[in-house]
Amino acid sequence: MKITKVEIITRASKLEELKQALNDIGVLGMTVSQVFGCGLSKGHTEVYRGKEYDINLVPKIKLETVVCEIPVERVLEVAQKAVRTGNIGDGKIFVYELTDAVRIRTGDRGPEAIMDTK
Ligand SMILES: Nc1ncnc2c1ncn2[C@@H]1O[C@H](COP(=O)(O)OP(=O)(O)OP(=O)(O)O)[C@@H](O)[C@H]1O
Ligand SMILES: [Mg+2]
Repeated sequence: MKITKVEIITRASKLEELKQALNDIGVLGMTVSQVFGCGLSKGHTEVYRGKEYDINLVPKIKLETVVCEIPVERVLEVAQKAVRTGNIGDGKIFVYELTDAVRIRTGDRGPEAIMDTK
């Protein structure tokens, strides 16, 4: 079974909706960070909390989740649906194939480290 990391970078204001939507399809483990980023929309202005950012770095959230049983396509579909507004700055999703994972408490490796074995 493959283990895959899905990294979603999007608006901070969408965190609750995104978390809820992922929870609804059984995604439990996740890491969330506050980050600064910029994308491809050069020359366009992004608005964050009423402030305009015309150069470079805009505050975003990054949610990382590693899945093995839940289909990645499903994660992508649900995440997009939760955060898309259709405006510039909706974000990006990156998908990584993982080579391994370790559950430190038990020494479980690979899919066993990710699955809910109780
Ligand atoms: N090529 C990239 N590499 C790493 N991070 C990126 C890349 N593109 C976007 N990001 C991250 O994703 C965040 C959101 O990107 P953003 O939605 O602005 O992408 P975009 O390509 O400019 O699309 P849009 O036209 O919808 O704004 C960025 O702030 C940045 O943190
Ligand atoms: Mg952009």
